[in-house]
Amino acid sequence: SSQNDTMKLIGAIDQGTSSTRFLLFTQQGEIAAWAQMEHIQIFPPDHPGWHEHDPLQIWNNVVTCIDAVVQAMDKQSNYNYSIAAIGITNQRETTVAWNAKTGKPYYNAIVWDDTRTTSVAHHIANAHGGGNVDKLRPQTGLPISSYFAGTKCKWLLDNVEELQKDMMSQPHNIRFGTIDTWILYQLTGIPTEESNNTDAANVGGVFLTDATNASRWLFLDLETVQWDPRLVDTVCSPHRVPLSALPTVMPSSHVYATLKKESTGIERLDGVPVASILGDQQAALFGQAAFEPGEAKNTYGTGMFLMMNTGTKPVPSQHGLLTTIAYQLDNQKTVYALEGSVSHSGSTIQWLRDQLQMISTASDSEKYATPSNDGLYLVPAFAGLFAPHWRSDARGCIVGITAAHHKGHILRAALEAAAYQARELFDAIYADSHVLLKSLKVDGGGTHNTLLMQFQADMINAPVVIPKVQETTAMGAAMAAGLAVGIWKDQSELRAMWQVERTFQPTMKESERQYNWLGWKRAVAKSLNWVET
Ligand code: G3P
Repeated sequence: SSQNDTMKLIGAIDQGTSSTRFLLFTQQGEIAAWAQMEHIQIFPPDHPGWHEHDPLQIWNNVVTCIDAVVQAMDKQSNYNYSIAAIGITNQRETTVAWNAKTGKPYYNAIVWDDTRTTSVAHHIANAHGGGNVDKLRPQTGLPISSYFAGTKCKWLLDNVEELQKDMMSQPHNIRFGTIDTWILYQLTGIPTEESNNTDAANVGGVFLTDATNASRWLFLDLETVQWDPRLVDTVCSPHRVPLSALPTVMPSSHVYATLKKESTGIERLDGVPVASILGDQQAALFGQAAFEPGEAKNTYGTGMFLMMNTGTKPVPSQHGLLTTIAYQLDNQKTVYALEGSVSHSGSTIQWLRDQLQMISTASDSEKYATPSNDGLYLVPAFAGLFAPHWRSDARGCIVGITAAHHKGHILRAALEAAAYQARELFDAIYADSHVLLKSLKVDGGGTHNTLLMQFQADMINAPVVIPKVQETTAMGAAMAAGLAVGIWKDQSELRAMWQVERTFQPTMKESERQYNWLGWKRAVAKSLNWVET
């Protein structure tokens, strides 16, 4: 076939908490090929609440996934395609520190839900806010919490000897980054001399991040969309972190670099531009084409993240949400969002499967769940409670148990918990913005659970809408990358690709909704009051 028939595809690296994926999308927004690999979840045994990833394993998985997809695509298309651009979307806040000379990480990546920095957060709030965790909200949109990358940066400086030493002797070689930055640095770097296989770190790559990821450190000023050295000092003191150790903040859709094959050994990547970076929740918002203020999405993944576009002005939250950056397109105004983050959602089901061994697959949760909770509630406060409570001292609980309850009730309660938590966020969004969401676009693994989706519609008393392309996170990154290189001309073209697959309408009686909701609220009160203050 002729040159003109060559398919132009757009790639997305989706590096999540549990796995890494690479997907190729067609210009029509369909998935042409994809691959996925899990990585090891490191829970250091002597340290409850710690959670780490091996950054080199993650990098390796990125390369392996791309390679697998390219090989499959070569076969499938008889080499008749090209990759027009790739985008990166990532688990946010997870933090890596490395040395620019060796490319090697100083320590494992500290994962976003790791609670080791709870005391760091307390310390910052006490030293700078008289105990007020909302002290930095006006500037950063965030409460002072272990969740955010800056606290992890401070912990690394407090605890990793080699990093401390190098920070004194060679501060210009220190690099801190979230996973997007780490991957881009590796993708654009070249192998170190001692090895030319991809197991080892590359050096000399570009060192940057996008506005969405940058908004999750406690270091970024939301209005200027730049690091504020005073914030860096506030969070990291007594350590001095030079701005050279932090990635340059760039738009989310922009050609950052052009790849060379030496970095990965993959011929197909030679000359391909990297043209988007978005935190995974922001990418999902973008992939759901939620471009107008008041449009929102909820993602049921490892955690759960409800996000609403609020337009070109940051909206402060008085009800426990985060003010965050939704996206920043090249040469356009920054778009902001309100976000409700819940730390455990899909991971609650994983816990029932792996730790309690109540089920053997996640989908069994729906199979065995009882038709009603019969008064039993489960609050999955495994890492305290994030939005809207922000209480790291909260603990999980199962309440209302009688001898009539069985496994099915606990499964039911675990599924219901996600819906109740989304309702808490839904209500907080209304309280903060006076926008009553007319419907909720949803995505993520949890959308396969019809029990959860129906109960969700019932709890928020609004339709829950599942789109045709459910890979909204990867799709969002691909869309932003395609926009930067002219594959799609504008957002209206992107919006036209978004289509409804299925809608769940609320059917529950008001009295029943109220009864369930009050039960949940009592259960949360137990969870919040477990540790005496
Ligand atoms: O803020 C953390 C979030 O980005 C993680 O998302 O999908 O990897 O659980 P996910």
